[in-house]
Amino acid sequence: MIRPTHQQSSGRCTPLTAPSQLLERHQVTLSTRHLLFAGDLQDDYCRQFSPHHTSVYTHYYHHARRLLPWLGSARVHCTLLPERSLTAVCDTVLYYWPKNKGEAQLHIFSLLAILPVTTDWWLVGEQRSGIRHVEPLLSPFGIVTLVDTARRCRLYRFRCTLPPPFDLLNYWDRYGYQGLTIKTLPGIFSRDGLDAGSQLLLEQLPALQGRVLDLGCGAGVLGVVAKQRYPAIQLTLSDVQAPALAATQATLAENQLSGSVVASEGFSDLQGLFDVIITNPPFHEGRQLSTQATAAWIRNARDYLAPAGRLLLVANAFLPYATLLDQTFGSHQLLANQSRFKLYQVTKQ
Ligand SMILES: C[S@@+](CC[C@H](N)C(=O)[O-])C[C@H]1O[C@@H](n2cnc3c(N)ncnc32)[C@H](O)[C@@H]1O
Repeated sequence: MIRPTHQQSSGRCTPLTAPSQLLERHQVTLSTRHLLFAGDLQDDYCRQFSPHHTSVYTHYYHHARRLLPWLGSARVHCTLLPERSLTAVCDTVLYYWPKNKGEAQLHIFSLLAILPVTTDWWLVGEQRSGIRHVEPLLSPFGIVTLVDTARRCRLYRFRCTLPPPFDLLNYWDRYGYQGLTIKTLPGIFSRDGLDAGSQLLLEQLPALQGRVLDLGCGAGVLGVVAKQRYPAIQLTLSDVQAPALAATQATLAENQLSGSVVASEGFSDLQGLFDVIITNPPFHEGRQLSTQATAAWIRNARDYLAPAGRLLLVANAFLPYATLLDQTFGSHQLLANQSRFKLYQVTKQ
C-alpha cells in the first residue's frame, strides 16, 4: 500500500464538483450507509458523512493525502488493486467515473472481484467524461439503472449478479523505445507510445551524473532511458498515480535497471537534494487545462536542487513557463525550440 504522509488539515473543504452535487440530492439515503468512496475523488464531499462509516479507495496519491487527516490511514487506501480489508467496511460504493474508460474498468472490475455481490453500487460522472459507458460496461454483469441526471452528470445504480472475471495481467501494455521496454497500464499518460514532448527531451538529453529525479514519471520512460545511457546515476522516479508507480516498477524490472520509485505529490515525499531533475510536467487537472502543479514544481525545484543542479523541463510551446523559470532561477536556456514543444534548462546558482 502507498502510505500517504500526514499533511496538516486546513479544516477547509474543496468546492463540490458537479458529480458530488448530483450525489448530494440523495444524501438522506446515503447517510444511513457504510460508504466506500472510490475513483476520481476531486473534492471532499465524503466529509459530509460520518468518518466512522466512510472509507476511500483511490489511485491518486494527492487525493489520498488530502483526505488522510480527516479519515486516518486505516480508512484511506491508495493502491493499484483494492485490499480485501475493504470488504469489511462498506455496503455501498460511490464510484466517481474518471476521464479514462480503461482506468474505470480496471478500478471497477478489481473492486467487483473482492466485494460481496450484495454491494449497492452508485456510479456518478460527467457526460463529457464518458459516464454513459457504465451501461455497456456493467449490464452484462447485473442490473444497471439510471437514477438521476443534472449538471451535465449522470448517476447510475448497479447491482451485480455475476462478477466479471478479473486478472491484472490482461491490463498490461507495453511499447518499445531504443531497445527498452516501457510497461504501461490504463490511465497512464502516453499509454500507447512515447509522447512527442518526452521524445524531444530524450533526444536532447545532456550528460547526467549524481542524483537524478524523474518528476511525474508516468510509466518511467524518461528515468529508464537516462539510467540506460548513464548507468552511474542514482535514479529516483515519482508520481501521484498508483498505476504509474506500478508501471514504473515494472519498467525498471523488465529492463533490469535500478531506481527508487516514490509516491509523491510534487516534492511532498522526496528526500535530499538532486543534481538533475527531468520532467515532462502535467498540464491538466481532470479535463481542465491547468499549469498550477507545474508552476509549483518550478518554484519548489530550487529547494530540491544541489548547488549547480539543473532542471530540464519540456512543455507545449504555448505554455507560459519562461517567465516563471526566470523569476525563480534568474535565467533560462532553451535547449530546443520547436513549433509544438520547448525544452528548457535552468541551473541553480
Ligand atoms: C505529462 S505526464 C509525463 C509522464 C512521463 N514522464 C512521460 O514522459 O511519459 C505527467 C505525469 O505527472 C503526473 N502528475 C500529475 N500531477 C502530479 C503531482 N501533483 N505530483 C506528481 N506527479 C504528478 C501524472 O500522473 C503524469 O504521469
